[in-house]
Amino acid sequence: MSLKKQYKIKRLKNIQNQIKVSKLETTENRKDIFIEKTINSKSEKGDDKIKMSKKIENKKDFKFKFPKFSFQKSIGIDLGTANTLVYDKRKEKIVLNEPSVVAVDRETKKILAVGKEAKEMLGKTPDHIMAVRPLREGVIADYDITEAMIKYFIKKVYGNFNIILPEVMICVPIEVTGVEKRAVLEAAISAGAKRAYLIEEARAAALGAGIDIAAPTGNMIVDIGGGSTDIAVISLGGTVVSKSIRIAGNNFDEDIIKYIKKRHNLLIGERTAEEIKIKIGTAIPLEEDEKLIIKGRDLMTGLPKPIEIDSSEVLEAIKDSLDSIVSSVKQVLEKTPPELAADIVDKGIVMAGGGSKIRNFPELLSRNTKLKVVLADNALDSVVIGAGMALDKLDILRKIEKAER
Ligand SMILES: Nc1ncnc2c1ncn2[C@@H]1O[C@H](COP(=O)(O)OP(=O)(O)O)[C@@H](O)[C@H]1O
Ligand SMILES: [Mg+2]
Repeated sequence: MSLKKQYKIKRLKNIQNQIKVSKLETTENRKDIFIEKTINSKSEKGDDKIKMSKKIENKKDFKFKFPKFSFQKSIGIDLGTANTLVYDKRKEKIVLNEPSVVAVDRETKKILAVGKEAKEMLGKTPDHIMAVRPLREGVIADYDITEAMIKYFIKKVYGNFNIILPEVMICVPIEVTGVEKRAVLEAAISAGAKRAYLIEEARAAALGAGIDIAAPTGNMIVDIGGGSTDIAVISLGGTVVSKSIRIAGNNFDEDIIKYIKKRHNLLIGERTAEEIKIKIGTAIPLEEDEKLIIKGRDLMTGLPKPIEIDSSEVLEAIKDSLDSIVSSVKQVLEKTPPELAADIVDKGIVMAGGGSKIRNFPELLSRNTKLKVVLADNALDSVVIGAGMALDKLDILRKIEKAER
């Protein structure tokens, strides 16, 4: 088989994966809207609001065209492992940014707090309360809690009583399974969304970082979040090659905790480790080391104690994790078809996500790949902005779907 043919098949397969969910939803009536089935299943339970919106949905000639100045509520949601962001398309801004944490009562399983409030409980919770991160490592670990979280965030944005239901575009990591995708969609519908769509996180990140994903050129995006790093080469709206690894921003924190315990006999918490990483962390040695005084518990005496650490120590601590990310990027480059690789040589690699904000990380990646590497301007927000933008590109998403049939 010629290389061109191989690549074509591969691309088609990828496109297939991306729209698996929308296809799942449309098998019964292909002309209908992606998520209609989920709406139906909810209305069986007798939710009046959903029934109302179903009437609109049932018009067979309904098209995805929204007037520019509509009252249509549309939001993009970035369900990150570390933070959940909500972007309001009409207001053109991020309206919510809270940690993806839920505090749950261990016995009654009742949800006590979500977001900021719940994060404050992390590490300080009494025995009967547990603080859960439902999207551990970029996959949906706990479905019920994820649903509760989505519900809470939508309510927080729109208030409790709302006649106009929002249309929601949710980002999911590349490696989320079909079942998980369906679960997220259903969670969004039951959380009060009129329609819900999914977009792959890397694609959303690319959109949000200003890349024209529908162009016939290759673009590489490296999105380093809290729990997972998604690396993808995108062309013509499809993901041609991708890889997702479970090493990302939070691993650097763990590395720092381990290092300080071993080297200084001092126990520090997650939040201190993150502070160290953000303040004095670096991916390549600095000309002049920066220092920071931190406090922890001395393992010998059991007493609190301050120590001073410097950037080179942080680099030593996180080096292996940095290297794993770099080598995964190289693996993806090796699998990239030559034509697209040539595009990446011209355009460079785009980095996004909070994890890529470690000082000099783009420089490290650039040195190792001999390519130009740029950090997206809005590294922490590009995914959610991209999700919001994707709501305008539903026609393109559908074209990809058609091409695959
Ligand atoms: N300035 C910074 N320098 C280094 N790491 C950062 C910085 N800002 C945020 N991070 C890290 O980025 C990660 C969260 O990134 P984010 O893209 O929000 O993740 P997710 O999409 O998984 O929620 C965390 O590990 C956080 O510590
Ligand atoms: Mg993210």
